[in-house]
Amino acid sequence: MSIHVNEENKLFHLQTAHTSYIFKILENDEAGQLYYGPRIPVKDDYKNLATREEHDCTNTLTVDQPDFQLELIKREYASFGKGDYRYPAYQLTFHNGSRTTEFRYMGYSITKGKKRLKDLPSTFDDAGDDAETLDLAFKDEYDHVMMLLHYTIFEKEDVIVRSATFSSFCTDIMVNRAMSLELDLPDANYDMVQFSGSWSRERHMIRTPLRSGIQSISSLRTASSHQHNPFFMLARPNTDNNQGGVFGFNFIYSGNFLDSVEVDQFDTTRVLVGINPDEFAWKVDDGETFQTPEAIMTYTDKGFNQLSHQLADFYQKHLINPHFAGKERPILINNWEATFMDFNEAKLMPIVDKAHELGIEMFVLDDGWFGHRDDDHTSLGDWFVDEKKFENGIDGFAKKVHDKGMKFGLWFEPEMISIESKLYEEHPDWMISTPDRLITPARNQYVLDMTRQEVVDYLFDHMSAIIKKTKLDYIKWDMNRNITEMFGSQLKHDRQLEFGHRYILGVYQLYARLTEAFPEVLFESCASGGGRFDLGMMYYAPQAWCSDDTDAVERIYIQDGTSYGYQQSMWGAHVSAVPNDQVGRLTPIATRAAVAYFGDLGYELDVTKLPQEELDQIKEQVAFYKKHRRLFQFGKFYRIDSPDTATDNVYDWEVVNDDKSEAILARFQILNGPNPAYIRTYFTGLDPEKMYTINGGDEKFSGAELMNVGYFVPRIMERKPEKDPSDFSARILVAKEA
Ligand code: DGJ
Repeated sequence: MSIHVNEENKLFHLQTAHTSYIFKILENDEAGQLYYGPRIPVKDDYKNLATREEHDCTNTLTVDQPDFQLELIKREYASFGKGDYRYPAYQLTFHNGSRTTEFRYMGYSITKGKKRLKDLPSTFDDAGDDAETLDLAFKDEYDHVMMLLHYTIFEKEDVIVRSATFSSFCTDIMVNRAMSLELDLPDANYDMVQFSGSWSRERHMIRTPLRSGIQSISSLRTASSHQHNPFFMLARPNTDNNQGGVFGFNFIYSGNFLDSVEVDQFDTTRVLVGINPDEFAWKVDDGETFQTPEAIMTYTDKGFNQLSHQLADFYQKHLINPHFAGKERPILINNWEATFMDFNEAKLMPIVDKAHELGIEMFVLDDGWFGHRDDDHTSLGDWFVDEKKFENGIDGFAKKVHDKGMKFGLWFEPEMISIESKLYEEHPDWMISTPDRLITPARNQYVLDMTRQEVVDYLFDHMSAIIKKTKLDYIKWDMNRNITEMFGSQLKHDRQLEFGHRYILGVYQLYARLTEAFPEVLFESCASGGGRFDLGMMYYAPQAWCSDDTDAVERIYIQDGTSYGYQQSMWGAHVSAVPNDQVGRLTPIATRAAVAYFGDLGYELDVTKLPQEELDQIKEQVAFYKKHRRLFQFGKFYRIDSPDTATDNVYDWEVVNDDKSEAILARFQILNGPNPAYIRTYFTGLDPEKMYTINGGDEKFSGAELMNVGYFVPRIMERKPEKDPSDFSARILVAKEA
């Protein structure tokens, strides 16, 4: 049992395997936060945690309760307007324009398991034996509004999932702000660790100490964005990969979000995670309900690697479509960087043939196969094959790929429309625009109004027809621009601020219908690389294109950042040609592959143009990856902090299997140096008692030795500088139980 309730003291203690989360109902009948951190024993009450000191600078609840000052209290889900001037968790506007709420606790219920949310991606415990859910009910008597706070406790993975619902039973109300999670912490001695960047340099780690005021990351792009990922952490200043206290937060949502951390005048910290209240409001009519998306929180006192592991475990069991959870992903070849849109069947077939010879398992046909799309000005929305490129139809081409024993995948960008398209000729009103305003193009394309049911239906019908016709195995669902001139032609004026959320609900509806109708099809989400890399997408599409940047060095930074909050099987990682398309860098194909092994491996280059020497290497890489695929995709991922890698020039990554009988460590050296120091690498996560060999050598090492003494990694010096510089090298060490 993970939820302990003391009814007399109205105290709730949510316990996971290693954490405790405690709150109680306060004198004003709202819930107040007491503790979140390492697990502590269950008691009847924790009076000491609720001790109040009177401060003379704040408002009090009533005249005879001078020490009940909301501004000083750690709250579960804070309102605004009663004397706590920190940013609130929610704000409602009532019929008369007032915004003050007085929700009072009504009661609670506990259920086994965790039901999926309707219309939103969510966590689940379908079997009902892994989770417990607590719903707390509050009522605002005056305005007849109910508020439910939901908590699901995933005991084994140390994860708590939160959300809230508002229902009106009288007149309509406006929900102006409804965050999914609030956490008030008693001090502010934390670093905020966020993952930010831009197109082609997504999710770079940034670590900054908290300071007085608000630090936040957010999006107003109606996408989680390249610029900031919704995942972030609060870590004690001494926390590193191996040790230290750290909270992790993430949001199961793909639209506008706000992660905000406020440090107040008394150095307490308020965390809020939810839909960005800017550009959002939701009208709840009498008898209706608004449900926030879910946010997750987790804690460990064992450092970043452990936090990543518990999240990885959690996603595979309770977020990823069970059809693909823990299921090995195919090695693919994608034609984008090989041909861009300049292809036809005759040009593609040799690539398919060669890829097949190399052992690659799936051919993915990227942008340009439909309508008359020879460049990015045209055809989005016209989801029928370009017969000039495929005389035998797309089904004819798919059959040829399938006949080789390979899987077949196709690129779609469902949410978009080109003005030069049949779809626009027929339905110009399906494109998002604001009346009497100019329309802003981006990549020469525009966005479909996914809030309209007929748009979602059109896309479902056309995509379904292609899926059936081609017996499709995989879809890359791209999204290459953000919305401008946001306006819902079918929404009344007082519902216009619902548009952003309704748009995302439309996207989710299409995903839900397609994944239900075609459960065997593997979806990979993409948004100009990693512009919508979030848990909302992952619920439907278990993997996402990590970044358009496939340079091996840049990918080290991107995948390293991504790995803090996501698991390797959740990102596609491809070997592409050199000089690299994004940075013009030359890196050896062995290094490109070594980086891409740590993810869902793919190739994205014209294999018909490579020298035999590189083709031989690819064949070996594919065979090596197949042999170790489970370990690379689902093994425990360690970012190694060791004495000799405390520099940006060397990165060590390792994956370890469940019984610790096998581990693969990669050492990436960015630049070579003259006459350098003797360099070792230190394995981690092995069994200290087990004996291991390295790369099949004769010498045996105990796990204790490999983890404490380390292993000497000779540098790579002998290279042909014209195409294989000695910079950017990678070493792979396979440790196997002897
Ligand atoms: C952006 C994606 O990230 C690329 O991989 C490719 O699919 C292009 N779009 C195609 O337009």
